[in-house]
Amino acid sequence: MTLNEIIALDKKYFMNTFGDRMPVCFEKGEGIKLWDLDGKVYYDFLAGIAVSALGHSHPALVNAIVEQAQKYIHCSNYYYIESQAKLAQLIVENSCCDKVFFANSGAEANEGAIKLARLYFRKRGKPEKFEIITLEKSFHGRTLATLAATGQEKYQKNYSPLTPKFLSVPMNDIDALEKAITQYTCAVMLEPIQGESGVNPANKEYIRQVRELCNRKDILLIFDEVQCGLGRTGKLFAYEHFGVEPDIFTLAKALGGGFPIGALCSKEPFASAFEPGDHGSTFGGNPLACSTAFAVLSTIINEKLSDNSANMGEYLIGELTRLKGKHSFINEVRGKGLMVGIEFSKPIAVELKHKCFDKGYLVGSVGNNIIRMLPPLIITKEDIDRFIPVLDSILSEYDA
Ligand SMILES: Cc1ncc(COP(=O)(O)O)c(C=O)c1O
Repeated sequence: MTLNEIIALDKKYFMNTFGDRMPVCFEKGEGIKLWDLDGKVYYDFLAGIAVSALGHSHPALVNAIVEQAQKYIHCSNYYYIESQAKLAQLIVENSCCDKVFFANSGAEANEGAIKLARLYFRKRGKPEKFEIITLEKSFHGRTLATLAATGQEKYQKNYSPLTPKFLSVPMNDIDALEKAITQYTCAVMLEPIQGESGVNPANKEYIRQVRELCNRKDILLIFDEVQCGLGRTGKLFAYEHFGVEPDIFTLAKALGGGFPIGALCSKEPFASAFEPGDHGSTFGGNPLACSTAFAVLSTIINEKLSDNSANMGEYLIGELTRLKGKHSFINEVRGKGLMVGIEFSKPIAVELKHKCFDKGYLVGSVGNNIIRMLPPLIITKEDIDRFIPVLDSILSEYDA
């Protein structure tokens, strides 16, 4: 099919949730490159929004899918699943958690975290502790509970009444958080580095204070690492940057390298609040998802891709900061590892994204003032060096 035929089919039959997409349909990918139907190459600096951590068609990922699919794809959670147990072990042995549950997406992992926090207090004889405090500008998903948790009205406004007992406070304001806590609060849930609102890292001191406050007030601390986890920020888990450990954290996106899987990861004694029948999933943790995720996570760990993310992220942020010196309308370059945002004083982000696209580079825009880059963790210095002069020349078009 031609691109125009695909677009026509999409417009006729697919619900219009994504509006006008970028005018491309990819045919194949390898490493950081994607090719469209006409054979034009694109360098992927977005990685499916922090998903394709190993790049496209990584042999470890492809082989894991093929090998497991040839054996069997699915069985119910009525039965023991080897790859599920092994993936849980791999996560536990490389993180601060004690137990894992597998879901199919980030939102679903977060739903599980919310349920677990409430259930923990209920089983401790405190059923009144059900309120969850989140942060403004956060993003936790599109299901009704995670939408209520998301501290951005634009996602919520058409879906009232929202799931009750969620409230958001400003990030990096410990007094606001302390004031919002009541006898009903069961958890604080936050992204240590916010992604969807344009790469906003929390202050280290703030996160330390949040941890201390949660301990003092008998409240669970949940980190949503769906976007910032798994090497994205230069450490395997973003919490490692802050010198604290969450009680519960969630993963998704990069975990399956493009195959859908999410994970709810919890310390004890919280994890044990889930007892038989308290939670479940048909697809969650199935053999194909877990074999795939095991291959992805093993590769991230064994090939030290967190270190590459730290090094390449530092280099990318350095180069972008150099461009900031040349182009006065760049307000800020921020981020950690390969989670990078550029904020402009002019509303040029969407147009700039299209100009990068025309030149064969995929980046994301957040609103009209922020460009976001989340390239695969395998990116090289050469990839960055190829892009920077292209970006520089596009930015020059906006110099006053
Ligand atoms: C921090 C965070 N949490 C949760 C989600 C929702 O994940 P999913 O789209 O897999 O449900 C996202 C997606 O962008 C996210 O960035």
